[in-house]
Amino acid sequence: MDPIIAGNWKMNKDPAESRSLVQNLLELISDVKNRKVILIPPFTSLPIVAEVIRNSNVKLGAQNMYWERSGAYTGEISGLFLKSLGCEYVVIGHSERRHIMGETDEMLNKKLKTALEIGLIAIFCVGETEKEKEQGMTEQVISRQLKQGLKDIENEAHKIVFAYEPVWAIGTGKTATPQQVVDVHKFIRAQLIKKKSTILYGGSVKPENIDTLMHEQEIEGVLVGGASLKPESFARIIKFSIT
Ligand code: PGA
Repeated sequence: MDPIIAGNWKMNKDPAESRSLVQNLLELISDVKNRKVILIPPFTSLPIVAEVIRNSNVKLGAQNMYWERSGAYTGEISGLFLKSLGCEYVVIGHSERRHIMGETDEMLNKKLKTALEIGLIAIFCVGETEKEKEQGMTEQVISRQLKQGLKDIENEAHKIVFAYEPVWAIGTGKTATPQQVVDVHKFIRAQLIKKKSTILYGGSVKPENIDTLMHEQEIEGVLVGGASLKPESFARIIKFSIT
């Protein structure tokens, strides 16, 4: 399977900026094969990005969704709306949703269930904070996030893409070492009933470290934040080489 390179723009890029970023990126990666590139812009830029990537192999994803399909939930977005805009993927449980917006394991479980039901591929993020890492709790935390997040849907976990994103590595410039990532990826896989799920790494992925990360077979792709906001750096990440 082709490695996944996903760019999560977070709350950056208005529609005009989004158009220019994607146009520039597409030019830079026009010769790239054997990579699954997913762009994850803010909701407001989904239509414009969908339009620009229409004749390319690039896929579209959203950063979040609500678990109900429609109704009186002011300010929330239905996964069905995302599908109608051309999204194939949706990020669930990003650490910023968990830690800034207070999303709980139970809420994420509902979102994962809905994503599975409506046919959106969830990119489900798990990862420990710096404090939890220092206390030696990494496996305990990830095990809880997986257990509660996947409650009642354990048998369908192979339809979910997992992203190990240590909170201490997100936006900090501190990247986990390839060995740390491999160890946690193996731990995640061991927790899954079917071992086939794709597992990505995220946290300060940049042009300088992508080659060594992707050298590891266990790392099947990356979820990139900051470095996906510049076409040159994201194109370089997409064009990683492991030789
Ligand atoms: P970063 O973000 O690459 O800026 O560290 C990663 C993420 O939050 O997915």
